[in-house]
Amino acid sequence: MRKAFLVALIILFPLALVGCVSMALPRVNDRVTGETARPVLNADGELTRAVWESEQAPALRQAFQDEVYGPVLLGEMAEIESHDIMQEGAFGGRAIVEQFQLRLRVNEAEWQTPLVTVRPMNAEGPVPVIVLQTFCGNLAALRGMDGVMGPNAASGAPDCMGGPAWQRAIMTSIFGEYIAEPPFEMILDRGYAVALIYPGDLVPDNRTSAMAPLAAYSPQGQSGAIATWAYAYSKAIDVLETRPEYDSERMAVWGHSRNGKSALLAGAFDPRIDLVISHQSGTGGTTLTRSYNGESVAQITDGYPHWFNEAYAGYSDREAEIPVDQHQLIALLAPRPLLIGGAWRDRWSDPMGSYQAARGANPVYALYGSQGLRQSGLGDFDPSGDIAITMRNGLHGVNGNDWTGFLAFLDAHFMDER
Ligand code: GCU
Repeated sequence: MRKAFLVALIILFPLALVGCVSMALPRVNDRVTGETARPVLNADGELTRAVWESEQAPALRQAFQDEVYGPVLLGEMAEIESHDIMQEGAFGGRAIVEQFQLRLRVNEAEWQTPLVTVRPMNAEGPVPVIVLQTFCGNLAALRGMDGVMGPNAASGAPDCMGGPAWQRAIMTSIFGEYIAEPPFEMILDRGYAVALIYPGDLVPDNRTSAMAPLAAYSPQGQSGAIATWAYAYSKAIDVLETRPEYDSERMAVWGHSRNGKSALLAGAFDPRIDLVISHQSGTGGTTLTRSYNGESVAQITDGYPHWFNEAYAGYSDREAEIPVDQHQLIALLAPRPLLIGGAWRDRWSDPMGSYQAARGANPVYALYGSQGLRQSGLGDFDPSGDIAITMRNGLHGVNGNDWTGFLAFLDAHFMDER
């Protein structure tokens, strides 16, 4: 009895704390404020679709590699070393879970890492798929399912599975119910498959142990970890595109926060990605570097020097001088759909800066006859827009309200017209 009381206290305390903090923090303002994005093209070059595709977009991709992320290399196609069915009828009879052991090669880097897929059983025809990277890896996402491989020992992954259930309860009460796993049943019932690949298996999220694999990935000019994690999304796409169960024209990538930065970068460099969901990705993600709100370049490069190339850190306190900004990265997705997720009290990730960046990308969407972001503010979520922003109450993390927005957007772009 006493133990149950203690366990309840341990779980309820962080919940209450998160609730209080969330109420105490100021809300993000829905009024359009702050720096607006500069024109997509700095020179007054005329924007035409032909010149955009043949000259301007490639030049911007180069500039993002030089100034922010380091080389983004797509390497050889992923090789499937083994493929096993882990479970049929998982998630209450809804899904087939498969695991592909992959071998990946780029320059001097060679990795083995598993891709796990969870697809609806008895689907008629190829299904759309959402490729996910999470903080905790495949085994945690599948709650310890037999045979599913977790992060490798060198990845330094947080121990999301180990320990008693209350540990997981605390983590989810702080970062949201779906921080380590997506709501599989809800996703499967809507007709989507999920594919999971763990970025830390390639490059650990650690400023020291990231260095050797980063140097092997790109011996000429070191990449930042975000570039290699973007590469991991592309390697999942390599596999999914060869499997008849998946629709190669409906391949989405999803990531939260740091993974949302990589998902956006992957979409900007890999045209096979059909839709991007970049949730609370902030600085180095969907937010303008020059918004002067939320996390600064100095803060992000002090905290996470291994995420970017060295040039980016050089723009600490010199944001005005950076030659590229994130609206140009968003423009590289055009006309493919992009959903930006935010929370009203997550000022660190600067949702208004994302709004401004999305607006800044509109002229390139317009080249394809798309209106891009149509919303007149953060609050009026319009899932059918080619760029949309969904906001919910609370802080940084992933919860059920976020997924309601993600699925509404996916349905609007992948399901409604069929
Ligand atoms: C830190 C970091 C952010 C990042 C976030 C996350 O807060 O400063 O840039 O998005 O971690 O990945 O959760």
